[in-house]
Amino acid sequence: MDDTYVDKGLENVVAAETRLSSIDGEAGELVIGGFPLAELAANATFEETVFLLWNDRLPTADELDDLRDDLREHRAISDETRNLLREAADRGQSAMDALRMGAASATLARTDGESPERDALVAVAQLPTAAATYWRYRTGEEPLDPRSDLGHAANYLYMLTGEEPSDAATRGLETYLNTVVDHGLNASTFAARAIVSTESDVVSAVTGAVGSLKGPLHGGAPGPVLDMLFDVRDTGDPEGYVEETLDAGERLMGFGHRVYRVRDPRAEVLSAAAERFYADDGDEAFFEFAREFEETAVDVLAERRPDLTLQTNVEFYTAVLLNGIGVPRDLFTPTFGVARVGGWTAHCLEQLEDNRIVRPRARYVGETGRTWTPVENR
Ligand code: COA
Repeated sequence: MDDTYVDKGLENVVAAETRLSSIDGEAGELVIGGFPLAELAANATFEETVFLLWNDRLPTADELDDLRDDLREHRAISDETRNLLREAADRGQSAMDALRMGAASATLARTDGESPERDALVAVAQLPTAAATYWRYRTGEEPLDPRSDLGHAANYLYMLTGEEPSDAATRGLETYLNTVVDHGLNASTFAARAIVSTESDVVSAVTGAVGSLKGPLHGGAPGPVLDMLFDVRDTGDPEGYVEETLDAGERLMGFGHRVYRVRDPRAEVLSAAAERFYADDGDEAFFEFAREFEETAVDVLAERRPDLTLQTNVEFYTAVLLNGIGVPRDLFTPTFGVARVGGWTAHCLEQLEDNRIVRPRARYVGETGRTWTPVENR
């Protein structure tokens, strides 16, 4: 085998076959479980999307009820996980560190045996509870028990805020969860597949995936996008802000993408969802401001870098939408995890259907032929 070509970021490596999602970066198309993203996002509840990814078809009404019941039954975290999350909050650890602890200890609340399918259920059901429990402790409030009369998205918002969310907020969150549930073989999904390929368990794979998502190159952009929008709104000079950022050699958060050469299709769906939400229930002026900022930024980027196509990515409208529906800034990345766990678990199940341990090779560039020097002579 040829060892001379090393593909460091594996961009040119096709490491799996998947029926879960497909991305066309030139055309700006994303297909999830066979549905164009816009079709899925406009119609599905998150529970339906999870069923679709796990089973490669939509559920019947009875199957959907069963999945809803199963998820409700598994929402509660163990007392030990709760204590761990309180400790994380008290010590000022980050929300993603807390989510990783919540994921890792999820098996403590597993009551009905271990199988990849049961573990997938536990992970999807418990991540929102872990994120919300941490947040309540961090803001000096007692955590709330999950409410079994609410769906997955509405219950997450309830556990965060203590209030039953409006239909508009629930629908906004549901659209977000569906939009980012899966996106090809991204870093965290690859990590999950690599872990489960050793015939380890799905909860371990999800824990590793949360660790991967924590990195700023993967899940960290929406928080800084929101900071940027608030800053620019205060200064009142969007064009000046963009010019100054680029003059300083910095990147504009929420723009550019490794794969998409046109506007990220997820940005399309989320901007429409944000527009609907803000018109209905939010601060319409903030949405208008964000849209004007986007236009200015895209124009300046095109002027400054005519050699590139730097367009709006998913993170820009993630920040606008999540802020509107009341998800705190510090929970943007954990909320991404609450969505992506649907994809991670589906990839784990898919990997196990036709498993081969993930084991790429490395080209050795170290020394050879060394002779040992005893420690007293070094
Ligand atoms: N603002 C300004 N310049 C940008 C830019 C941005 N948001 N994104 C890319 N560029 C420029 C780079 O500086 C680079 O310029 P150079 O050729 O002079 O070095 C060129 O575009 C290509 O950059 P590269 O890093 O190769 O692109 P990439 O495809 O690897 O990067 C991202 C993709 C997403 C990492 C990059 O666009 C980025 O950092 N965006 C901002 C952060 C963000 O929004 N992340 C969320 C992504 S979903």
